[in-house]
Amino acid sequence: MTRILLVCGSQRAASLNARLLDALAAALPAGVVADRLRPAEVDLPLFDADREDDPAVVARVRALHARFLAADALIVASPEYNGLMTPFLKNLVDWVSRLPYRDPALAGAFADKPVLLAATSPGWSGGAVGIPALRALFGYCGAVVFGEAITLPYGDRAIAPDGTLDPAFAGIWWRDCVARFAALVLCLKGPRP
Ligand SMILES: Cc1cc2nc3c(=O)[nH]c(=O)nc-3n(C[C@H](O)[C@H](O)[C@H](O)COP(=O)(O)O)c2cc1C
Repeated sequence: MTRILLVCGSQRAASLNARLLDALAAALPAGVVADRLRPAEVDLPLFDADREDDPAVVARVRALHARFLAADALIVASPEYNGLMTPFLKNLVDWVSRLPYRDPALAGAFADKPVLLAATSPGWSGGAVGIPALRALFGYCGAVVFGEAITLPYGDRAIAPDGTLDPAFAGIWWRDCVARFAALVLCLKGPRP
């Protein structure tokens, strides 16, 4: 079974990006399982190198690292904050990326991991301004960031709280993007032994 970890860059209960993730997950083909990382499951302090040996923090980071490692790919939907990624998402990536430096037996959780980036916001940019920063972040961590990204301007009008999509956004372009990303993930994973 191919597993895609869905990561939201917003912790907000009413997050538009969480709604967008729901829509993208619904477009995944059969044979691909979506594993949703809930913000409550993250629960990490602001990164502090002096806390890298704190047993309570290490236990949480290990669990998150294992979750990322187990995924065949990631779909990340995040708002931009002043044109960059949210501190929540950056903090999560920082903690998870640091663990193999402390425990060299561990592989990098993002190494060679295909990543599809997505964003929405209530504004005109739809989070598109922050996509290059996300691309740089995941690329730096060794991920293989998909060439296209899905961005949705005026997201508060495009996706209703119940997940209903405005017909203007219900077209095929982003479904096609998700399908091609999933096809790439399946191809990279190769035939099961
Ligand atoms: C600190 C901060 C900075 C923001 N900067 C941007 C921005 O650069 N571009 C943008 O379109 N929206 C910006 N916004 C508005 C967010 O896109 C909006 O709050 C959005 O709903 C957040 O995503 P979420 O609904 O998934 O939590 C900002 C919001 C905050 C709190």
